[in-house]
Amino acid sequence: MPQDVPWHGRTVHTGVWKQTVTGPRMVRRLNIDGDGQGDLAGHGGEHRAVLVYQADSYRFWARELGRDDLEPGGFGENFTVDGLPDDEVCIGDRYRIGGALFEVSQPRVTCYRVGLRMAEPRMAALLVAHHRPGFYLRVLEEGEVEAGQEITKVATGPEAMTVEEIDRVLYLPGHTREQVERALRIPELSPGWQESMRALLVQEDSGAGPATGSAGLNTAAAAPRPAWPGFRPLVVTDVRRESRSVFSLSLAAEDGSDLPAARPGQFLTVKVPSGEGGPPLIRSYSLSGEPGTAAYRISVKAEPHGAASRRLRDHVRTGDRLEVAAPRGTFLLAPGDGPVVLVSAGVGVTPVLAMLHELAHERSGREVWWLHAARDGSEHAFAQESRDLLAALPRTRSRVFYSRPAAGDRQGTDYTDAGHLSAASVADLGLPEDADAYLCGPDAFMQAAEAALVDAGLAASHVHTEVFGAGPSTTPGITAPATGTAPHQPPGPPGTGPTVSFARSGLDVPWSDAQGSLLDLAEACDVPVRWSCRTGVCHTCELALLSGSVAYDPDPVEPPAEGNVLICCSKPAEDTVLDL
Ligand SMILES: Cc1cc2nc3c(=O)[nH]c(=O)nc-3n(C[C@H](O)[C@H](O)[C@H](O)COP(=O)(O)OP(=O)(O)OC[C@H]3O[C@@H](n4cnc5c(N)ncnc54)[C@H](O)[C@@H]3O)c2cc1C
Ligand code: FES
Repeated sequence: MPQDVPWHGRTVHTGVWKQTVTGPRMVRRLNIDGDGQGDLAGHGGEHRAVLVYQADSYRFWARELGRDDLEPGGFGENFTVDGLPDDEVCIGDRYRIGGALFEVSQPRVTCYRVGLRMAEPRMAALLVAHHRPGFYLRVLEEGEVEAGQEITKVATGPEAMTVEEIDRVLYLPGHTREQVERALRIPELSPGWQESMRALLVQEDSGAGPATGSAGLNTAAAAPRPAWPGFRPLVVTDVRRESRSVFSLSLAAEDGSDLPAARPGQFLTVKVPSGEGGPPLIRSYSLSGEPGTAAYRISVKAEPHGAASRRLRDHVRTGDRLEVAAPRGTFLLAPGDGPVVLVSAGVGVTPVLAMLHELAHERSGREVWWLHAARDGSEHAFAQESRDLLAALPRTRSRVFYSRPAAGDRQGTDYTDAGHLSAASVADLGLPEDADAYLCGPDAFMQAAEAALVDAGLAASHVHTEVFGAGPSTTPGITAPATGTAPHQPPGPPGTGPTVSFARSGLDVPWSDAQGSLLDLAEACDVPVRWSCRTGVCHTCELALLSGSVAYDPDPVEPPAEGNVLICCSKPAEDTVLDL
């Protein structure tokens, strides 16, 4: 059963410590009696009910790691088995053991806890690199099972795709499209792995070239390649007021040449001069303008106490130069013919406005819904521009909600609804359930709108969101992860190494070799992070490297996409800006 284990000054709630048992045990759909998982997001559930590992792999690891202390259950498995090697067992195979019937659903997922259990931090990476992951079973018929029983194969999975092969497709370089398509023809493959396989195909179909396996693990790995490394100067060619608090800047190449085309939904990262001789402030802004290569447009809300946004508003003028990183991001309008729902609040309109521009530009016949929330007419940026774009499209529906309409605001002309864009109003819209929705606005708005869209029948995987900030953390199994603490300098004496800038958190930190990795540094600063294996396999920690370079130790199993970094196994080689 799960227990709390101290680790790096934190507490991990994990069921990876298994003990051998004698006598029969009842196996049920979700668990074996007396067994449990600590982190149900990563382990357990109907499709990951029973973990299997092979005695032969124990012999391999004893030799490979020079260990004589490995005991059954040591890899967190429920059944330690003779036979059933990963390169013979296929997804969908069925086995009878005692009174229960099992079906192979997926390989083990890589995670740091097996390394914690084995006192070998590299273990998650080694399991993949040596093609010995082990696998999960779902329970088709519940029944009693006892150590020593025969394991009888009763059916072979369709496509005869082995555990080892599918693990390689996802985690290691060099799979083929045919392999991914084969995997997707196996209904017995767990939904999580099916989603990863589909993500690989989407990446290939998006025209970005053959997907690396990691595109199935993290959307950051599927981001289009950045058009230039680091920052380059662009010149401000226009400054325009869009509403009481929002203004736009147009940015073009210094020599007037075309800029690389950006995808609607992408953002730029800008170095905003601080003006006091201090380091620049690094902030990101979604592109809001029409596609094309002449200029990029960003639109900024001057925040009441915002350092960079006010600096941009008060000091940046036409003709000024700004250092800008290439368009990046994964909040992209997916190609297709299906309905599109664009939902925004306040300045969150920027990336979805770029999408509306794209749809209008290509005279799309898609059904387009435009849902926008603003406080009143004076805060309604791009009111006329969005109306013009919608008018140019054949199949549109638009609803604009003013939470506090001003006296001069005209219902029916300036806005359609008084009040908030609430869950109830979304439910009443009659949105097409097969739509893709793109959502941007303040955190609370997005959470509510996302839930409302799913309640309205849209698939959760078709609701795409852009966060104008650091985003949520993923820290599997950590009890009471830090929340709400503002990012800060790490404790202890300041480092003397290159500067690491966390762009989304607005923090510059000198590197110190007291930190093991960029991930360790981010955690010491309470910068929100996402990770799982901490050893370069799972790509959960992959993110955009906006400028600079890193050195890897250990080398990742598969390198990140170009322009990205895996922060769990890297250190800065020079001043580095991370999209974190
Ligand atoms: C991918 C991405 C896309 C983005 N796109 C856009 C976009 O299109 N348009 C846009 O405007 N922004 C966008 N942002 C947000 C933008 O990057 C900045 O975070 C934003 O402009 C605020 O930066 P700032 O330096 O002005 O505020 P900061 O100084 O960083 O302050 C952050 C917040 O704290 C508040 N604050 C600061 N000091 C105080 C204080 N003393 N008391 C009370 N409150 C305080 C500010 O009002 C502000 O709301 C995007 C962010 C990301 C990550
Ligand atoms: S956390 Fe798994 S690759 Fe970094």
